[in-house]
Amino acid sequence: MKQLIVVSNRVPSPQKDSGSQGGLAVGVMNALSRTDGLWMGWNGVLEEDAEAVAPNAYEHEGVRFATFPLTEEEHELFYVGYSNEVLWPLLHYRPDMVEYSRDKDRGYQRVNQRFADQVADQLEDNDDSAIWVHDYQLLSTGHFLRTRNVDCPIGFFLHIPMPPWETFRILPRQERMIEHLCAYDTIGVQTETDLEHLLDNVARSGVARVEGHTIVFDGRRIDTGVFPISIDVDAAREMAERGAHSPRSERLKASLRGGPLIIGVDRLDYSKGIYQRFRAFEQLLENTLSRYGNITYLQIAPLSRTGVERYAALRHDLERIAGHVNGRFSSYDWMPLRYLNTGYDRETLMGFMRQSRVALVTPLRDGMNLVAKEYVAAQDPQDPGVLMLSSFAGAAEQLDGAMLCNPFDVEEMADMLDAALSMSLEERKARWQRLHEVISTHDIHRWGRTFVEALNASAAARHGE
Ligand code: F6P
Repeated sequence: MKQLIVVSNRVPSPQKDSGSQGGLAVGVMNALSRTDGLWMGWNGVLEEDAEAVAPNAYEHEGVRFATFPLTEEEHELFYVGYSNEVLWPLLHYRPDMVEYSRDKDRGYQRVNQRFADQVADQLEDNDDSAIWVHDYQLLSTGHFLRTRNVDCPIGFFLHIPMPPWETFRILPRQERMIEHLCAYDTIGVQTETDLEHLLDNVARSGVARVEGHTIVFDGRRIDTGVFPISIDVDAAREMAERGAHSPRSERLKASLRGGPLIIGVDRLDYSKGIYQRFRAFEQLLENTLSRYGNITYLQIAPLSRTGVERYAALRHDLERIAGHVNGRFSSYDWMPLRYLNTGYDRETLMGFMRQSRVALVTPLRDGMNLVAKEYVAAQDPQDPGVLMLSSFAGAAEQLDGAMLCNPFDVEEMADMLDAALSMSLEERKARWQRLHEVISTHDIHRWGRTFVEALNASAAARHGE
């Protein structure tokens, strides 16, 4: 393979720290910095004549980039509309939030075609590159690459969940989506459950046949597999060690005045279950106030997708409940819930995680959730904190050792928080060791390597090598 070309909607911005850019950016950056890679995608800018603008090439943290703008209309229909008002809620098991229209659908197809054209334009005849397309925003990009006669190996990785058929079939024209998926050589998902659903959805759509883990479509074979995304464990640990001694961490520590710290770090998204967490914290305070003294829950939730109405509504709800909890329980010198929309650099975040006694990672549904893994890597092995993890996060299928909870059961979450806060050092260490073993053996390097190997193997089989 001459080079690996990664294609995703969002690419890490040199101006923005990767800590505030979501799991995809962090994971792919780690995977690409070790290969001779080119990363293509949207530059985050909206321009009137975007279609006429050639990609901007640059290098950042040792990786080559080629990025391009979108028009305002493309952004509205493709990104806000179809990606985040149709696919995001549907694939997170929230069909009640789906707001579909044919305009959004057409906009999505057009922009996927544009991404494909941008990539195809970079390729030479008989190019032996491999292309790795990422996530739900670009499901159809592989199909449009094939219509441009691109014959090199093309893989697709879905970072978010794949729901079961009864949910998936709510997507209008779902057969076309499956057909477009069949343009790839390899399709990767986060968990065994996602894979089971993917294969069942393909079979039940009637578009293609399924043989074991292989999809057979129009004489072509598409391999599928589970590739749980992860983190760079050593880098995260080092950041946490440094971050824990930063002036910010010192100030945080002093402000706690000896009380335990509970932490949550999420993009402000309804899938993350932040509202339910705030309610569970309120319940915890009600149940245990006199026992723990000054507990502090620090929820860092940078704003995300502010152009999508549901996110604005969630923000409003969180502001209301945060005010309610603090109004009810604060005293003149203590505020239990610190709710922030500011994003911090990763070193600061890791330092905060290392100081906390409990992490609340309780999404209502999540593809993987890298915060859960980062929290484990950030801990001091001699005095580790407790990971309270939703059983609906992809990470729960891997992270034996976490306290698994149901985020829809607020009272259970409050009881589990209580148990986490009073857990013995011995049990905390035993759980952490199990967690650490998993993340060290299944790290980000393994994720990138195994996917690219699988893609090369599928493509070799297709060419009968
Ligand atoms: O993990 C899902 C994902 O959409 C990624 O593709 C993206 O990096 C992250 O969440 C942040 O979302 P957005 O690009 O919509 O800000």
